[in-house]
Amino acid sequence: MELQSHRTETVKEGRERQREGEGEDGVTAGGGGGGGKKAGMKRRHEEEEDEDETSPTKKQVPDHSVKVASHYNSLQEVGLAARSRSRIFFMRNFNNWLKSVLIGEILEQVRGAGPQQISVLDLGCGKGGDLLKWRRGGINHLVCADIAAVSVEQCQSRYEDMKRKSHANEKIFSAQFITADCSKEVLSEKLDHPELMFDICSCQFVYHYSFESEQKADMMLRNACERLKPGGYFIGTTPDAFELIKRLEASDSLTFGNEVFKVSFQSKGSYPLFGCQYHFSLEDVVDVPEFLVYFPLFEHMAKRYNMRLVMKQRFSEFSEEKVKKEHHRSLMMKMMALEPFPCEDGGRQATDSRGEYCHAKDHSSRAGVRLPLGTLSRSEWEATSIYLVFVFQKMC
Ligand SMILES: C[S@@+](CC[C@H](N)C(=O)[O-])C[C@H]1O[C@@H](n2cnc3c(N)ncnc32)[C@H](O)[C@@H]1O
Repeated sequence: MELQSHRTETVKEGRERQREGEGEDGVTAGGGGGGGKKAGMKRRHEEEEDEDETSPTKKQVPDHSVKVASHYNSLQEVGLAARSRSRIFFMRNFNNWLKSVLIGEILEQVRGAGPQQISVLDLGCGKGGDLLKWRRGGINHLVCADIAAVSVEQCQSRYEDMKRKSHANEKIFSAQFITADCSKEVLSEKLDHPELMFDICSCQFVYHYSFESEQKADMMLRNACERLKPGGYFIGTTPDAFELIKRLEASDSLTFGNEVFKVSFQSKGSYPLFGCQYHFSLEDVVDVPEFLVYFPLFEHMAKRYNMRLVMKQRFSEFSEEKVKKEHHRSLMMKMMALEPFPCEDGGRQATDSRGEYCHAKDHSSRAGVRLPLGTLSRSEWEATSIYLVFVFQKMC
C-alpha cells in the first residue's frame, strides 16, 4: 500500500472517516486528490517537495533534528536534591513509574516465552534514565542510541558507574552506545555485533520527533523493528494527537497549558499527517519543536515491518489499571510517584497555586478515605495525561 497518498489527508479528516466506520486501514483510503481544503493541503506539500533545490525562492527548511539534539545536549544533569525541589518532581516520578511497569510487564512476557538471553534497544535513550530499569529486569545486553552526543556520553558514564559500583556477584548487562539521528541513519549498520537481534525496542518519549516527515518516521520505525526477533516487542510512550488537538480546539488561542507545561501550534483547523509541528515546553526539562503522531497512520506504517498493535492506552487508563496490582502499587509508593495530600509534618505541597488540589480535597472529605491520599497537582496531571503507551509485537 502506498503511503504517498496520505499526504493529502489531515488528522481531523482521518478521525472523521474513522468515526464513519472505517477501520485502522482506513488511512489508506483518504488520499487521491479531491477538492476544497484537501486539495489545498496537497498542493502545498507538492510545491514544497517539487521545488528545484537550486531555486532562489526555495524556503530554507530548518532541520528540527539539529534543534532537538542541541536542546537535549544543553540540559544539565541535576542532582537528587535539585530534582526533589522541582515543581514536577512527582510527575517525573509518575512517568518513571509508568515506564517501569511497562518495561517490567514486557520483560515478563519475553521470559514467559522461554529462557533466553535478552537483548534490548533503547531508542532515544537520553541520559540513561531507564538504565536502572534494565538492570532490575536482569537483561543481558543493551544498545543505547540517541541523537544527542552529550546525552549518550552521560548515559555511558552512568552505565560504567553502575557497573563499577555493583556487587561482585551481580552480572550487569553488556552495552553499546551509539550517537545517531535514528530518523535518518540505519542503526543496524552501527552494531558491534552485526547479527544481533533484539527482544525489545523501547522508545520512551521519542517517536514524535520523527513525525516531521514520512521518511523520518519510517526510518525511526525501521530502526525500532527491523532487528526485532519474531515475537519481539516495540514499546513506547508518545503524546496522543487526538488529545492535543482536542485541547487546542477548546482553547481560544493557538496555545494551551498551565504553570508547568505549554503547547503552541502555528495554526488550527487542519492538521497534516506529517510535519504537523507544535512547540512543547515543560518546566525546566523540555523546550523543543515536536510533531503530531496520528496513531492510526503509525499503526498502519508499522505493518510494513510485520508489527501488530497489541496495546494502546492513555496514561490515565494504563495507570488506573496497573495500580490495582499490589506490586505495582508498592513500586509506586517506593518511587514517590504520587504526592501525599495533605502533606505531612507541616511541609508544603508542590505548589501553592489556587485550585491545584481541589480534586484531592474533595476526595479526602469523603467518608472512609484514609489520609494522606496520593495525588498529582492539577497542572502536573494535565501535562502527563497528554501521553499514551503503546506496545507492538513482531508477528512470527
Ligand atoms: C524526552 S527525551 C526521552 C529520553 C529517554 N527515552 C527517557 O525516557 O528518559 C527524548 C530523547 O529523544 C532523543 N531524540 C530525539 N530525536 C531523535 C532522533 N532523531 N534520533 C535519536 N534520538 C532522538 C533526544 O535527544 C532525547 O534524548
